[in-house]
Amino acid sequence: MATLRRASLLLACLACGAAFAAALDAPRAHPLTNLPPAGEISHGHFFPDYPTRQFIAGLPVKVVLGIRNDAAEAYNISAIMGSLNNAEDFRAYYWNFTQQLYFQVVQPSKELSVEYSFLPPKDLPPNDYQVALTVFYEAADGFKSTTFFNQTITVNEQRQLIDWKLMFLYVIFIALVGAGLYYVWSMVKDSQLYKNVVGKKSRKVEVSRADNDDEWVKGTHYDNFRKKKAAAATKPTKKAQ
Ligand SMILES: *[C@@H]1O[C@H](CO)[C@@H](O)[C@H](O)[C@H]1NC(C)=O
Ligand SMILES: *[C@@H]1O[C@H](CO)[C@@H](O)[C@H](O)[C@H]1NC(C)=O
Ligand SMILES: *[C@@H]1O[C@H](CO)[C@@H](O)[C@H](O)[C@H]1NC(C)=O
Repeated sequence: MATLRRASLLLACLACGAAFAAALDAPRAHPLTNLPPAGEISHGHFFPDYPTRQFIAGLPVKVVLGIRNDAAEAYNISAIMGSLNNAEDFRAYYWNFTQQLYFQVVQPSKELSVEYSFLPPKDLPPNDYQVALTVFYEAADGFKSTTFFNQTITVNEQRQLIDWKLMFLYVIFIALVGAGLYYVWSMVKDSQLYKNVVGKKSRKVEVSRADNDDEWVKGTHYDNFRKKKAAAATKPTKKAQ
């Protein structure tokens, strides 16, 4: 008796779980999950601003889609939608691009161009991704769809106006070079060789100045002053030698 009750309880639980799972599944499926069948159109596309398909995270990408109606009935071009997926595994999607509505009719053997813009998210890590773009259109017997772009693209980082990381490296580099130069300079300054060379040179300059007395200052106060000053400057150096 107890086993029977337990079994029925278990069954009820299972049924409840199944119903719950079904309820979770129930919300209207995303349009990209179950694509309607393809209609009869020819199509071409191009990316006016990114011909090499190297997009930049955070900047909108414009794509122009050209459609030619190859069917015998009119198509009402409803919308374009897209997604950003893992380049290796298409089932892993990262982002659904906003859908754009058109509701433009293209008659049999007529052509139509529409523009679609999508935005690779700003925080998207630079990498290769697969982008799929699908156009939905309506005929008398219901919706149709054509995936007009499904390829690997590259998303790059937006280049910053000021690259702070690089700036920081420059500052460190300049500081290191400066410190190195200062170290070399202080070594040279204190070396005997430097003292000899510079010491002799400055003495030579003083002597030549003293020799080079201009005629016109001779006998003036300025001349006397200059001679005294020169004598005072040369005396200590002579004593040192
Ligand atoms: C994005 O699209 C996929 C189908 O490709 C769908 O399964 C998913 O629920 C959508 N995500 C959002 C947030 O709409
Ligand atoms: C195209 O489809 C939209 C949405 O179903 C509808 O509102 C519109 O009237 C249609 N356009 C034409 C010309 O049938
Ligand atoms: C896009 O291509 C991948 C294979 O690279 C395929 O698995 C996927 O179903 C395609 N998606 C659409 C929407 O056609």
